[in-house]
Order: sequence, then structure tokens, then C-alpha cells
Amino acid sequence: MTDQDLPEGVRSDVAQNARVWNYWLGGTDNYPVDRTVGDQITSMYPSIGEVARADRAFLGRAVTHLTRDLGVRQFLDLGTGLPTADHTHQVAQRIAPESRVVYVDNDPTVLALARVLLTSTPEGATTYLDADVHQPEQILAGVEPTLDLGKPVAVMMLGILNFVMDTVEAHSIVGRMMDAVPSGSYLVLTHPTLELGGGGNAEAMRFWNEHASPRIVARGRAKILALLSGLELLPPGLVSCSRWRPEPTAEDGVGEVAQFGVVGRKP
Ligand SMILES: C[S@@+](CC[C@H](N)C(=O)[O-])C[C@H]1O[C@@H](n2cnc3c(N)ncnc32)[C@H](O)[C@@H]1O
Repeated sequence: MTDQDLPEGVRSDVAQNARVWNYWLGGTDNYPVDRTVGDQITSMYPSIGEVARADRAFLGRAVTHLTRDLGVRQFLDLGTGLPTADHTHQVAQRIAPESRVVYVDNDPTVLALARVLLTSTPEGATTYLDADVHQPEQILAGVEPTLDLGKPVAVMMLGILNFVMDTVEAHSIVGRMMDAVPSGSYLVLTHPTLELGGGGNAEAMRFWNEHASPRIVARGRAKILALLSGLELLPPGLVSCSRWRPEPTAEDGVGEVAQFGVVGRKP
């Protein structure tokens, strides 16, 4: 992207998470400041690109399992990220074209490119909400009519609760979202951690918090499991997201990454 005609609210002087994530995933929707900070983080924490790719691959496997094996047809994807390959609606609608997806992000670059995401099958629906995960009521007020909250919904929170610095607030956001959806709904979560290795990760997060936005926090197994209290964890439970139902063909190219992945079902 160039600096000319910046969409409203977009800053090219501060690295933004959605664009740096896009850079690590090999995308081109990013600015020099994002690439500079992204490269500095990679020099401190060389496996960050692997984490980003493992997180996206987890998204693909989780949405496939929910759609193909568990009959889910509605998804609320919080912290969408910039367009890349295989977004939630693409994975779900390949299996069930009638699948309905609401995307939510508060990044102005994501908003500017959101139209790229809105390519639903005619049978299904895809909409985008420019909203902040700190305001769950605003999100819930905007999901209908795309989603019917009387029917099961998979609430996707991949790499987003790590931007809610206060664990009590993170708990309250998850609680509010899961209270709003019926029994048979799911919570799909990924979250960075310092408990699965990833040399340089703590230093890289400190650097991120000094040079980029929004601020990030890692959490351990106990805190993440507490976020899923009251939900039934699907096998294999809370694991490195790369090891959550890996493809049988993946051999042991499935290395552990410092990002937990988990899916819980509301009983
Ligand atoms: C690490 S990326 C993850 C993208 C995607 N979920 C994935 O797993 O590939 C985190 C996303 O969360 C968004 N985000 C961060 N804080 C947010 C907030 N308070 N409200 C809404 N979105 C937020 C960022 O803009 C970014 O697109």
C-alpha cells in the first residue's frame, strides 16, 4: 500500500497489528512501518511467522470440523484481520454454501478492505461490523439479521483476547458473547502464551508494546482455561494450535508453536 489517499483513520506512522499480521502471513496490505516493526520482532522471536501461519491453519481446521462434522452454519468472527487466504466464510461456505458469517474488527485498514471479505455465496451471507471487542453489547446489537441468535453460533476469537489486557474484562467479554448464544454454540479461541517455548517471545512482546498498537499480553494455560469455564472442550482440549486436530498427512511437520488453540461447546 502507498501513503496516498489513506482511508479515514488509517495511520501509516505507527505499526498496527492487523497489518503486521498480514505481513507475517506474506500479504501486501501493510506499510513500511509495519514491515520494520515486523522484521524487528522476527529478529527477536524468529518463530512468529510460524505462529501466524499455524493460527490460520487452525482456523481452517476448526471451521471445517464445525461445519462438516458438527453442523454449524453461523459464525461470529471477532478480530477478522486483513483479507488473506481461506477466511472463515470461504472455508465454511465451501462445505455448506448457506453458512452465515459476521466479521468484526476495529482496525480502519481492515474496514477499508472489508468489501474484499464480503463475497458470500448467494445462499449464505457475510457482513462486516466496524466495532470494538471491548464493547460486546454494540457487537451483539449488530449481528442480526445476518445471524439468528436463537440458533447455534461459533464465536471465533482468534488472536484477539490477547489485546484485552485485563483478564477480568476478557472473562466478561467471553461470558457476554456466550450468554447471547444458545446451547450447542461454540467458542473457538487462539491465544499467545509464554508456556509453550518460543524463545524471545517475551522480549518481542515488550518491544511490540513500546512501538506498535494495540498493546498485547500473553496468558498461561490456567487463565485461558478459566476463560472457557462452563464449556465442554472438544478433543484434544487446549494445546498448541498447530497440534489441534492436525491433518493426518502432516506427519511430524506439526511443531509446537507458542499459541494455544481450543474449541469449547456450550452445553
Ligand atoms: C492477530 S490478528 C488475528 C486475525 C485473525 N483472527 C487470525 O487469527 O488470523 C488480531 C486482529 O484483532 C483485531 N483487533 C485488535 N484489537 C481489537 C479490538 N479491540 N476490537 C476489534 N478488533 C481488534 C486487529 O485489528 C487484528 O485484525
